[in-house]
Formats: sequence, C-alpha cells, structure tokens
Amino acid sequence: MSEKASCANLVQSQYTKAFGNPELMVKSPGRINLIGEHTDYNLGFVLPAAIDKAIYIAIGKRADQQIFLQAADLDQTIEISLDALTPSPLQWPNYLLGIADQLQKMGHSLGGFNAVVAGDVPLGAGLSSSAAVECATVFALNELFGLGLSKLEMVRLAQKAENEFVGLKCGIMDMFASMFGKQESVIQLDCRSLDYHYMPFHQNGFQIVLLDTCVKHSLASTEYNTRREECEAGVAIIAKWHPQVKSLRDADLKMVESLLAGGDVKVYQRCKFIVGEIARLKAGCQDLVNDDIAAFGLKMFETHDGLSQDYQVSCIELDFLADFARNQTGVIGARMMGGGFGGCTINLVKDASVDAFISEAALAFKNRFQQELKSYIVAIGDGTSLINI
Ligand code: GLA
Repeated sequence: MSEKASCANLVQSQYTKAFGNPELMVKSPGRINLIGEHTDYNLGFVLPAAIDKAIYIAIGKRADQQIFLQAADLDQTIEISLDALTPSPLQWPNYLLGIADQLQKMGHSLGGFNAVVAGDVPLGAGLSSSAAVECATVFALNELFGLGLSKLEMVRLAQKAENEFVGLKCGIMDMFASMFGKQESVIQLDCRSLDYHYMPFHQNGFQIVLLDTCVKHSLASTEYNTRREECEAGVAIIAKWHPQVKSLRDADLKMVESLLAGGDVKVYQRCKFIVGEIARLKAGCQDLVNDDIAAFGLKMFETHDGLSQDYQVSCIELDFLADFARNQTGVIGARMMGGGFGGCTINLVKDASVDAFISEAALAFKNRFQQELKSYIVAIGDGTSLINI
C-alpha cells in the first residue's frame, strides 16, 4: 500500500474505532518554495507549490459542544469545550483549535466535533505541516458546518489562527500554497494584492530533492518574529523620507543603502536581503518563462547566501548542505528553504545524478555531524480537497 493510502486509511480506521463513521475526510498538502523566502510578510512575491505529501483529517459532528481530537500517528487525544478554547501544551492540537477559535471569533456558530489527523508531511522539516493541518481543518469545518467560506477566506483565516492562537507571526505563503496548489505548477503569488497565477513547472530531466537536517532550533519562532520586527523597523525609517513606502515591497536598494546603511547593522542587512530577494524572484520567474533552469538554479544559491549571511536564518547544518550541493555535478540549484534554523534544503538535481547526490550527501553529513540525513524526492501536487471515504 502506498504511504498516502496508508495515512488516509489510518486516519479513517482510527476515527471509526473511536467515534463511528466519519462524515467527511480532507487532505491538505505540505509545500515547497522555489524562491522568494521571507518575502511574504514583507508583501513581496513568493513561488511555492504544494507537494505530494499531505495531512489527512477525518471529522464528524457531535451533539454537544465538545471537541475531541486525536493524532493517529502520535497516539494522543485531547478533549476541550468549544466554549473555553485555550492553547494546549501538546502543540499539535493548537493548529486545529486555532481554526475553531478564529471561526467563532468571526461569528460562525460551530457545534462540537470529533477529528482524527495524521499525515506523511515530515514534522518540523520546513514543509509547513502546520499550515497543512490548519488548511485541512478549516476546509473540513467549512464543509461540515456549511459555512460557505471561499478558499481565500479560509487561507486568511488559517494565517490569522497561526498568528494569534499559535503565536507565529507568519506570512500567508504556506496556507496559500497548501490550499491553492496545482499539479506541475508553481504559484507566483503577490502577497500584497493576493493576485496569483500558476506557472507551469516543467521538470525536464531534473528532480526536486529535499535534504532534511532533522534539526529544529528552539529559537526558530522567536527569531522569525524578530526578523519581521527588524524589517518593520527598516520600513519605518525609509517611510520618513518616502511616505509611499508601506512595506519593503515598495522599497529599493538605493533607499536601503542611503537610509539604512549607517544605522542598525541588523536592520540594514535584513532589508538589503529582502529587497534583493524580491528582485531575484522576479528575475527567476523570467528564467522559468525562458526555460532557463540553469540561470534559475544560480539564483537559488544566491538566495541561500543572503539568507545565511544577511538575513541570518540559516544554521551550520543547512550551510553545510548548501555548500556540499554547490560542488556536486548534476546540481542545478540548492538553498535552505522556509523559515530557517533547521529543516530542509531544496535541491534541483539532474535525473542521472539524483541517487549519487543523495547518498553522497548522507555520507558527508554523517561524517560531519554524526547524524542521519533524511531525503525526499517530491512531486508537485494539488491543493486541499475532500477525499472519498
Ligand atoms: C515560514 C512562514 C512563511 C514564510 C517562510 C519564509 O514558512 O510560515 O510565512 O515567511 O517561513 O519564507
């Protein structure tokens, strides 16, 4: 049985065992991001895609106001009342409870429900398993209670749940990619207007390989929120002279150099990276239109260097893997991916070199860190959907 079928089956059978037949099941994928990192909350552009690894949720109504949640693969259960939603120390329930909380705050009336979740999106690997749980939950509750929310409304709500209930001031990319993903396409998303279009992503002769450091630094979410504040501090300074600048999306390198270079070094470095990354993404999209994947790959290395040196969200394990990839034959581009401080690198690797690349990277990583390296070859898949039961 494939891993996907087995996840869906596990969720369904656990649900049936605990609560009887589920009313519906939803699948919501993890995501990759080709280029455009930390640009979403700066209202720039991103280029993510949904992948063929997903979170599955089985759900059904209850007659009372209670919520029963079960994580099938962790073998953990919690019970809480809809009338007293508070964050759980277990963490995973918060991605579901935050959605119920936001829906209620928006004035939707929910009833109690049972839900079982599990998936094959590796946790803490920077593939947005949390956004996948949030999107699966909001999609399932929308169906279950007939709330009539559009996909975009659900995405916004999921982001708000993560910002307020979980406490990570993330941008909109992860939820958007999970909900709107489309096979064989990357999504060019304007994070200010939320206009988007699907760019065909032709994998002619190469694959997307993720190398998972399995590192998750505990500072990740604090540092993430700090980066956001540093960018906002830069905008506040630039806006004194250029009031039209409302986010780093509106700034250019000249403004950054002339107004920030002599001030707080961190604020300067952060803003320099973001302004450069937004420009790099636009140029990278043109490379894809020109079918010039080699030029695109070089930009991925540049993004890594900026994230590591100027934005300072990398770590030694990610730097090691990006440097390793740089010197391998058959590697078109590589960089750390996602929020940082651990998780995966994303590598575009020519078909003929994939096996050797993965095994040599694993060996080098083991020699350097005495740790096993995990790897995933991912395909680009569709976004959140109901699945047949
Ligand atoms: C995390 C956040 C996203 C985005 C990325 C960095 O995945 O959830 O909103 O900011 O980091 O690009």
